Amino acid sequence: MTGWLIAVEGTDGSGKSTQARLLAQHLGAVYTREPGGTPLGERLRDMVLDPAGDHPVDRAEALMIAAARAQHVAEVVRPALAEGRHVVTDRYLESSIAYQGHGRRLGPDDVAAVSAFATEGLAADLVVLIDVDGPVAANRRSGHLDRIELAGDEFHARVVAAYRAMATAEPDRWVVVDGTGTVEEVAERVAAGVADRLGPA
Ligand code: TMP
Repeated sequence: MTGWLIAVEGTDGSGKSTQARLLAQHLGAVYTREPGGTPLGERLRDMVLDPAGDHPVDRAEALMIAAARAQHVAEVVRPALAEGRHVVTDRYLESSIAYQGHGRRLGPDDVAAVSAFATEGLAADLVVLIDVDGPVAANRRSGHLDRIELAGDEFHARVVAAYRAMATAEPDRWVVVDGTGTVEEVAERVAAGVADRLGPA
């Protein structure tokens, strides 16, 4: 039996990375992240996110993230699923649709097609959206900001709206979790939402 692939999504500052780690622990799943998850992917991540680096144009950004995803799926995600492990990935292709498709305005269909090529069509079984309002996330985004975090409030508002629209369009594959409250409160909501959709791990 193959494992479940669960993506945890949300805007920058939503607390999503903490929740992805806690969910992976809770399920005994492999925890991984995008962009990254492999040595090549982490190098691509640095190139994409470094505000002091070469600034990729938007299409290059989309392709570099997709390249990291291809490596991640081939080297980490598919092998773990094939062994029957569950995988929790901190971001997956829904991030590209939200950030590159809507945030950068490259168009969701083109970005989805590039990701489908990268992953050979591997979709997440479930997407958990850690939902917070723009201002909450903006307050949590602080300190050393990466190149995409620096993209501005309107960009991030488009990302939030895109996530909510995707969740509404595919309610069976998305769980929307209120991201306000303590880490423990949010983690309980996430675990309950996943158990509700996928059953006991
Ligand atoms: P992180 O904040 O979850 O570590 O993600 C790093 C940044 O990468 C975040 O600003 C969102 C961005 N990103 C995209 O723009 N598109 C993608 O497909 C992925 C996976 C991440």
